Amino acid sequence: MKLGVNIDHVATLRQARGGSEPDPLQAAVAARKAGADGITVHLREDRRHIQDADVLAIKKKIKIPLNLEMSLNPGIVAFALNVSPDKICLVPEKREERTTEGGLDVIRDKERIRQMIVPFKGKGVSVSLFIEPEAACIEAAQEVGADFVEFHTGAFAHAFAADDAALWKKELIRLHNAAQEAHQRKIGVNAGHGLNYTNVEHVVKIPHIEELNIGHAIISRAVMIGLSKAVKEMKQLIEKHALTETQ
Ligand code: PXP
Repeated sequence: MKLGVNIDHVATLRQARGGSEPDPLQAAVAARKAGADGITVHLREDRRHIQDADVLAIKKKIKIPLNLEMSLNPGIVAFALNVSPDKICLVPEKREERTTEGGLDVIRDKERIRQMIVPFKGKGVSVSLFIEPEAACIEAAQEVGADFVEFHTGAFAHAFAADDAALWKKELIRLHNAAQEAHQRKIGVNAGHGLNYTNVEHVVKIPHIEELNIGHAIISRAVMIGLSKAVKEMKQLIEKHALTETQ
């Protein structure tokens, strides 16, 4: 099973100060060197984290597939067509949400999605739809011509975090059944959202999932395991350059 590393929150940290650090491109390079199979970024309409220039830089420099998460917004679609990433994943987007809260309503937006996908497929871009793990959504994804579906694992992750065993097991079965349904329909299966170092072991056992997209947990862990080194380096610099008492 492949791992796509979502580096949005490196950009979140950068945007908090409005400067250039930390740099998502550098994060993409580090993720690739550590074995990531792909880099995922979400170019949100409000540009709250990843910026257009980040997408362009990552596409230019990174030699593993770039997966661009995006809404159906015409401006974003035009930009994405220009960039021509290896893959796109269509996601619903609400300005007021903290993160992508639910799957795409493919059934409601079927015609719009069908038309939107055509030029991407013409350019050889693989198209995925971020959906709830439900048979009706998978059927609609097939009808519009998607190559992949990405199942929203948020409900599973949420139940797991709440230690609600009955619910997370039910959600896991829902993911199993949906993966089976997509496989029978010859659609590729990815999954993501809220996956972390404690819950991932259950999702990797689901047959037919090709790739997991994980962001927040990896960036959070990177901060915690990197903090000690960062503090030591700063401490050493201060000690090296501070005035001694004799100066
Ligand atoms: N997949 C999709 C389609 C997403 O929108 C997100 C969140 O940006 C993720 C995966 C990653 O979720 P998380 O940051 O919770 O790992």
